[in-house]
Amino acid sequence: MLLEARGIVKTFGSFHAVDGADLTLAENELIGLIGPNGAGKSTFFNCLAGEARPTLGKIRFRGADVTALSSAAHAGLGLARTFQVPIVFEGMSVRENVMVGAFLRHPARRRAEEKADEVLEFTGLAAQADMLATALGTAGRKRLGIARALATEPILLLLDEALAGLTSAEMEGAIALVERIHARGITLVVVEHIMEVIHRLTRRVLVFNQGRVIAEGTPAEVTHIPAVIEAYLGRRAQGSPESRAP
Ligand SMILES: Nc1ncnc2c1ncn2[C@@H]1O[C@H](COP(=O)(O)OP(=O)(O)OP(=O)(O)O)[C@@H](O)[C@H]1O
Ligand SMILES: [Mg+2]
Repeated sequence: MLLEARGIVKTFGSFHAVDGADLTLAENELIGLIGPNGAGKSTFFNCLAGEARPTLGKIRFRGADVTALSSAAHAGLGLARTFQVPIVFEGMSVRENVMVGAFLRHPARRRAEEKADEVLEFTGLAAQADMLATALGTAGRKRLGIARALATEPILLLLDEALAGLTSAEMEGAIALVERIHARGITLVVVEHIMEVIHRLTRRVLVFNQGRVIAEGTPAEVTHIPAVIEAYLGRRAQGSPESRAP
């Protein structure tokens, strides 16, 4: 097993953002994680990647207990993630932004630069390497987040809505990039609201609702599970104007 998360709970005051979530990942898997807004997907990622310490539960990565480790320690072990709102370091070029990731394994500036350039080539950002990163649009910023994570040479990559907000042409490029990452042998968990993306990329999807996994199956299977339909429709009934039913 690559990753095993058991009974993960993350509370904010009395609110259970993650409420007993489990996840088991084998090496080289590519799974989807879907669920309505506020279901706890990003908070769960934060727990898995060490940005947030779970209130309860245990996370093992390659057999080692990583539950209480920092995000830097997680990155060192090969667990990287992107953020729903991409982090862009201001005043730095696209290449320098990626070097922030590359320094993890390559402390010498020259080697970090080489690593960053290799990743920029792989992610299709080479032409923008010398631009200020803040000049990138949404698609470029999302790609930059992926590039910085890849520069840490991860075994497992958690993508938090890396394909949201893209035009259909940009989305095609992003899907192809995720497939190339997977083809490199990197295990992926993809949080995504766009069901077309989930259908095209994954054969196993977990559905999150109110902080826990309520269903699991192929993308086609989960969309027919009554609890899943209810989870999405329930939110709509509560007045969310933007239906994201799968
Ligand atoms: N630091 C925090 N303090 C208090 N509440 C929080 C905090 N972070 C998240 N929450 C709450 O936890 C719940 C889960 O949020 P989270 O961002 O994990 O959901 P999500 O599934 O990623 O949603 P979305 O699809 O909109 O990104 C939400 O109700 C959110 O308001
Ligand atoms: Mg989120």
